[in-house]
Amino acid sequence: MNELPFSPACERNKGPIADVLKQLLPARARVLEVGAGTGQHAVHFTECMPGLNWLATDVPANLAGLAARFAREAAGRLAEPQPLDVAHGPWPAGPFEAVYTANTLHIMPFSLAPALFAGAGEVLVDDGCLVCYGPFMDDGVHSAASNRQFDLSLRDRDPTMGIRDTRDLERLAEAAGLRLDADIELPANNRILVFRRTEPTTSDRVSSQAS
Ligand SMILES: C[S@@+](CC[C@H](N)C(=O)[O-])C[C@H]1O[C@@H](n2cnc3c(N)ncnc32)[C@H](O)[C@@H]1O
Repeated sequence: MNELPFSPACERNKGPIADVLKQLLPARARVLEVGAGTGQHAVHFTECMPGLNWLATDVPANLAGLAARFAREAAGRLAEPQPLDVAHGPWPAGPFEAVYTANTLHIMPFSLAPALFAGAGEVLVDDGCLVCYGPFMDDGVHSAASNRQFDLSLRDRDPTMGIRDTRDLERLAEAAGLRLDADIELPANNRILVFRRTEPTTSDRVSSQAS
């Protein structure tokens, strides 16, 4: 692959996101990325946070581009990207200290968001967190005119896409044993929502009942 898939937005946002992740994540942490896209985030974050053991995933169609970027820019540092479509899984075996996903919730149909939260809840360690980057709205209100425009353009392109409401995400998180722990503003009217695991996973519950 000569031309790697490239996102100009990732080049702009990777620095500000990394600054937040440096505060948020332990120096040594296993991180699962959902919807890694071009892989620019994975390459940058593991470059500036060498203690992260980062596993990038995406739908199968994106894996060749991801693998090509990692071979060229992060050889020996990033594992082979793995397939993960949250519509049906399976999820890579955890546990992970964090699940990271950027700009995916407004792209995948909202009907898949419960599976994203539930899957994250299952693979996170106690006190682990799901980190979601992107534009979000609150109680149906956009935080900026540009986000409203973006939302309209998404829904025009595909009615299943659209900027999600933090209240709806909090409800999904709660059902998955996660709670909103931080809401951090980033440039260009984007945010990082941090959902932290509060309850044991199903497998923890099964093993504690058995013992
Ligand atoms: C706008 S791109 C964002 C890519 C990258 N995270 C970024 O910030 O540039 C949306 C990503 O969501 C992924 N995605 C969409 N539906 C998905 C699904 N059902 N399961 C996993 N990933 C999905 C796409 O393949 C794509 O990589």
